[in-house]
Amino acid sequence: MEPEATGEPLSEADAHLADAEQAVTAAADLDELQKIRVEYLGAKGKITTLLKRLGRLPPQERPSAGRRINEVKATVEGLLERRRRELREAADRPSVPTDFSLPGRRLEPGRLHPLTLVTEDIVRSFRRLGFAVAAGPEIEDDYHCFDALNTPPDHPARDVQDTFYLREQDRRLLRTHTSSVQIRTMREQSPPVRIVVPGRVYRRDTADATHNPTFHQIEGLYVDRDVTIGDLKGTVSFVFREVLGKEVKLRFRPHYFSYTEPSMEIDFSSPVTRRMGREWLEIAGCGMVHPQVFENVGYDPEIWSGWAFGFGIERIAMIRYGIEDIRKFYENDLRFLRQF
Ligand code: DAH
Repeated sequence: MEPEATGEPLSEADAHLADAEQAVTAAADLDELQKIRVEYLGAKGKITTLLKRLGRLPPQERPSAGRRINEVKATVEGLLERRRRELREAADRPSVPTDFSLPGRRLEPGRLHPLTLVTEDIVRSFRRLGFAVAAGPEIEDDYHCFDALNTPPDHPARDVQDTFYLREQDRRLLRTHTSSVQIRTMREQSPPVRIVVPGRVYRRDTADATHNPTFHQIEGLYVDRDVTIGDLKGTVSFVFREVLGKEVKLRFRPHYFSYTEPSMEIDFSSPVTRRMGREWLEIAGCGMVHPQVFENVGYDPEIWSGWAFGFGIERIAMIRYGIEDIRKFYENDLRFLRQF
C-alpha cells in the first residue's frame, strides 16, 4: 500500500472543520443537527474516516496528524453541542412575547414579611379601639428623643455607647425608640389623643440571637380626661389576646422610665414561651404619662391624664412563631420567609 502524500489528511481535516462549522450554524432544527453529526462523526463519517486512514501515513507523521484530527473532532463536537443547546432554548421560549399581566401558573405570589404581618395585626386591633396611626422621622434630634421625654443629659441612654449620633457635636441622632413620636404628635394636636406608632428604631448593639442594632417598636399613647392604669391594662390585654391567642397571660411589673410615673414593664407568658423554656418574657414598657411631659408639650396636667407604652415587634413575632434567633428576620433567607 502506498503511503499518502504528506500533509494531505491535515488539509482535509481543516476543510471538514470549515464545512462542518458552516453546516452546524445553519442547522435549523435538532434533526438537521443529527444528520450533520452522522456526516462527520458517524462510523463512516468524514472525520472518522480520516482517523482510520492515519495508519497509512508514514510513521513519523502519524502523531501530529492524529493530534490535529482529534482536535478537529473535538471542535466539531463542541460546535454541535452548543448549537443543540441554542435550538433547545429557542424551542422552550414562547413564540409570542410574554404577557406579564396574565395570571401566572408557575409564578408564586409574593408574601408579607413576618414582622409586617405582626405589625399589621397589632395595628388592626388598635384601630378597632379607635386608635389612629402616627409616624415620625427615624433621624431625630435629642429634644424629641430625650429632653422633651424628661430624659436628662446625664441619662445613660444618651451615651454614645448606646445611641447612634450622626456627627459629633450634632444634636441629630437615629431615634432609639418610637417615644419621640409622642412628643411630635402632642405638639401638633390638642387632646384627646389616641395613636399607635409602628416604626424602626436604632441602638448601638452587636447582633446576637436576641439583639440587633436596628429593630421595630410600636408606641401607643392615649390622652384624655380621667384616664387610668385600668384602661392601660385592659387595652393592652385585649390586643395581646387578639394577636397572640386567648391563652396568653400578662404581668405588669414596677419599673422606671423618665417619661412615665408610675412605670411598668409588661411580661408575657403562654404555651409558646414555656416551650421556649421561659415562663415569663419581657415584651414592653409602659406607664402613666409624666406630668412634666405634658408641661413640655403644652398640655395642662391638671386636666389631662394618659398612658403610653412601647412594644418590641420582633419579640412579639418571636413568641408568636416560636423563632429563637432575631437575626432570622433580617437575613432574607427565602427558606425562612416562605414559612409565613
Ligand atoms: N421607650 C421605651 C423603650 O424603648 C419603651 C416605653 C416605655 C415606651 C414606657 C413608652 C413608655 O411609651 O411609657 O424601651
